Amino acid sequence: MLHDRVALVTGAATGIGEATARLFAEHGAQVFLLDFDAARNEAVAASIRAQSGRAEAFAVDVTDGPAVAAVARAAIERHGRIDVLVNNAGIYPRSLFVDMTEAQWDHIHNVNLKSMFHSIKAVAPHMIERRSGKIVNISSVTFHVGAVKLSHYVASKGGVIGLTRSLAREFGEHNVHVNCITPGAIKTESEPRFVSDDDVRVFLESQSLKRRLGPLDVARAALFLATEWSDGLTGQCLNVDAGWYMH
Ligand SMILES: NC(=O)c1ccc[n+]([C@@H]2O[C@H](COP(=O)([O-])OP(=O)(O)OC[C@H]3O[C@@H](n4cnc5c(N)ncnc54)[C@H](O)[C@@H]3O)[C@@H](O)[C@H]2O)c1
Repeated sequence: MLHDRVALVTGAATGIGEATARLFAEHGAQVFLLDFDAARNEAVAASIRAQSGRAEAFAVDVTDGPAVAAVARAAIERHGRIDVLVNNAGIYPRSLFVDMTEAQWDHIHNVNLKSMFHSIKAVAPHMIERRSGKIVNISSVTFHVGAVKLSHYVASKGGVIGLTRSLAREFGEHNVHVNCITPGAIKTESEPRFVSDDDVRVFLESQSLKRRLGPLDVARAALFLATEWSDGLTGQCLNVDAGWYMH
């Protein structure tokens, strides 16, 4: 489905980004993995290559615009194209709003939202010139339902949806698609750091489907949005949340 396509995936060293990078490679893409966890990112790329996939790891902080632009340039120089950008890197530290510092607010917006300014700036002129491209932004179902101790996170994820819709309108005439995914509660390796057993019970009560979702569930939606199967969509948010929020 992605044969001969070049895809950039941010936050690819673990969780949803790792699953997306692996799935894209399985479907034929040359994948550029961007993550600031250099060791894990390289390990994921090496494991993709060991399974005959095509992957290269780049130790990049997504808040560093010039570094992200350098990876995009490298992809274009080596392969002549970037077909897909998945903006997945994100953080979700908890804090009550009354305890939150301005620095915490700014940091989460830099990582979760401003990073997309950098990466989309880096690929959009190329995609517009080629009249082809798929941009997939990862937001969160929490934008629709709100979340305690995550006001900075939810605000940043709302920004992702606004950015997606506006760029879909701007880039549509150039045949560049911009969509987003709002994952629900996804069982990742890092989840136990933030989520209690009680939280998990609430997730399952809120979901229509009574199984925990994993990173692959989100990666499959990203694959759909990265291929011609989604050519009729732009500016949309796919809710991958097991039927939690419906709209
Ligand atoms: N897990 C969930 O339940 C869930 C739900 C809704 C939305 N999301 C969103 O999905 C995305 C991925 O979440 P996840 O649960 O897989 O996260 P994760 O913590 O498992 O992985 C995130 C990856 O991003 C990387 N990263 C973080 N900050 C970075 C930076 N500044 N520069 C480069 N790399 C950076 C980390 O090293 C890590 O490899 C995030 O945007 C998150 O907000 C997750």
